[in-house]
Amino acid sequence: MTAATVGLEIDGRAVTVPADATVLGAAQAAGIEVPTLCWHEKVAVYGGCRLCVVEVEGRAGPRLVVACGYPVAEGLRVRTRSPRVDRTRRTILELTAPLVTDDACLKGKLRRFAEEYGADAGRFAAGAVPDPTGCTLCGLCVHTCAEVVGAQAIGFAGRGMDRQVVYFPDAGCEYRSCKKCFSVCFTGKIARESAATVFPGASIREWLAAHGVAVHSLRAFMERRR
Ligand code: SF4
Ligand code: FES
Repeated sequence: MTAATVGLEIDGRAVTVPADATVLGAAQAAGIEVPTLCWHEKVAVYGGCRLCVVEVEGRAGPRLVVACGYPVAEGLRVRTRSPRVDRTRRTILELTAPLVTDDACLKGKLRRFAEEYGADAGRFAAGAVPDPTGCTLCGLCVHTCAEVVGAQAIGFAGRGMDRQVVYFPDAGCEYRSCKKCFSVCFTGKIARESAATVFPGASIREWLAAHGVAVHSLRAFMERRR
């Protein structure tokens, strides 16, 4: 170990990584997969999905932390799989699946993770999410647009069950040529909706009108949501 690196243990394996790495980065460097939905190497850590939970040894015993935002430390001991980790991931996947589909036809990495953790995609479907939007609210499109493109043409609006991704028409999105958000959306929602008009029925003005919210400045509204 040098001053710029730290040594830690992941799943019993000694790993040396840069001192500013996260536990997720250290696991990836060691070739250990930790499942992620909202993490992407090109945008800042959001920490919204919690699927990357791992156990770290603390003074009061093992505790769950989110690997994508947890910094490495000298001597840290990490377990990426345990009954508690797997149970937590399974529940997160069961809560996420109904947002995407009202049947068990999960696709892509959501399907792979659901199978790996034995998640019942229909467990919370009935009643909880009557109208699946195809969006996991991972935020990758929002953060890619803001941080990679610098356009801020997509944002979150609403809270709780009303939370959704909306398009800000005033931001001058050039999605027909840009399409950076298309590639990060693993459910295909962005490409699907943009291919029609632009987020039909979900523009910020339509959302605000539907929810009776008066906004004097779209920019100020966006800033409050960030
Ligand atoms: S539209 Fe896609 S990328 Fe954006 S938050 Fe939803 S699932 Fe994530
Ligand atoms: S990938 Fe870490 S919280 Fe989503």
